[in-house]
Amino acid sequence: MDRTFDQVFRGSAFTSRSPQEVSVLEDCLFCLDEKGLIRRILKPQDHDYETVLATYSGTEKFRELADGQYFLPGFIDLHIHAPQWAQAGTAMDIPLHDWLNTYTFPLESKFSDLDFARKVYQDLVTTLLANGTTTALYFATVHKEASYLLAQICADKGQRGLVGKVVMDDKEENPAYYRDESTEAALSETEDFIQLVQELNKTTKQGVYPVVTPRFIPSCTDEALAGLGELAKKYGTHIQSHCSESDWEHNYVHERMHKSDTFALHEMGLLQDKAIMAHAVFLSDEDADLFAETGTAIAHCPISNVCFSNGVLPAARFTRKGIDIGLGTDISGGFSPSLFDNIRQAVISSRMLEEGVDPSLAAPERGLPQSRISANEAFYYATAGGGQSLSLPIGRLEENYIWDVQVIDVNATNAKLPLFDEGISMENLLHKILFLSRPENIREVWVQGECVHKRT
Ligand code: GUN
Ligand code: FE
Repeated sequence: MDRTFDQVFRGSAFTSRSPQEVSVLEDCLFCLDEKGLIRRILKPQDHDYETVLATYSGTEKFRELADGQYFLPGFIDLHIHAPQWAQAGTAMDIPLHDWLNTYTFPLESKFSDLDFARKVYQDLVTTLLANGTTTALYFATVHKEASYLLAQICADKGQRGLVGKVVMDDKEENPAYYRDESTEAALSETEDFIQLVQELNKTTKQGVYPVVTPRFIPSCTDEALAGLGELAKKYGTHIQSHCSESDWEHNYVHERMHKSDTFALHEMGLLQDKAIMAHAVFLSDEDADLFAETGTAIAHCPISNVCFSNGVLPAARFTRKGIDIGLGTDISGGFSPSLFDNIRQAVISSRMLEEGVDPSLAAPERGLPQSRISANEAFYYATAGGGQSLSLPIGRLEENYIWDVQVIDVNATNAKLPLFDEGISMENLLHKILFLSRPENIREVWVQGECVHKRT
């Protein structure tokens, strides 16, 4: 028989069917083409399952999971500051504005040094892959060269990277030691960067993409914001920024622009289907409707929000409104590189929003009803929701989606999950994986059909 497929994987998998529902694909054959795309998924009851199994089994194109191993879609980190990996776990003691000026701008300014940048970025991309993150939407720094280096490191290590050279051109709001030289320079460097990364993408199997990246409205002049909107349109790129993150930031924009972040960004041409805005905690109903209408996604960063946001994202409500939501680590506002940790925090924070947190209030006044999200929803955000937000065929294990997966081993040495009920439902098994897995349980990670991480 001819061998139509480039690779065939056999095993059981979990994938989102909708924000609330998970599909369990038991003992399936995942048949890939040479581009790493899932061409067919065969279930044991399908008529050609046995033939395909007999054809590929025992060949170098075949890979079969052992007992206790499961495929999960690779995670999509929808918001992460690559340079801030160097300070992850520290500097969580002061509010956003002070944090930027005291810790973060001094750190990011060091990425003019390419040797330093290489050290940090190589370590970060390796760490993210080992944590199951197959795609990441990165903020780099204002430096074009170091930002391009991050894209090259993603390309080399096999991660799908979407990378932005950060724009911060406002001379009032940014320190002289760390900002774009001028508005013109910010725009021309961004354009050069877009062209360089689009060229690199041509030789990168899993894809690397340039992203138009105004840091946030307070960092940028109106002229830069509008110019970036035009560049995104000209080159068809993704766009990312921060939006209505904290009281200070949200109020700053109201004072300067006399409107919300959302409406200001929209006027600058920065809201569209491939736009992803971090946080969006303080959206009004009109703002939220504009997100839904324009197809703009929210990168929900629940760990970071605890330190910087002065509130909890009403994720359940925004999902009901039809807004695309994915999950971000927001390193280093969030300390953890793991989307498992962020899934857990998303669930926890939503429960605290629903119940309320001030015990001196009577129960009916304490919280915001219907705010909880389930583990299934948090899983959706980390996978299918992220893919939908980026408009890429990733985050689901379905035909015509890309084979980006993590292999979870519930029996990993020193990290065995507490499974004592042989009759456990597959959905409960997924929840154990989501709440209890550690990096030790992530045995292998694959991006676009290539193995990019293996735990020995
Ligand atoms: N707003 C502008 N820059 C940043 C940043 O680096 N982190 C967070 N959390 N918010 C920001
Ligand atoms: Fe951020």
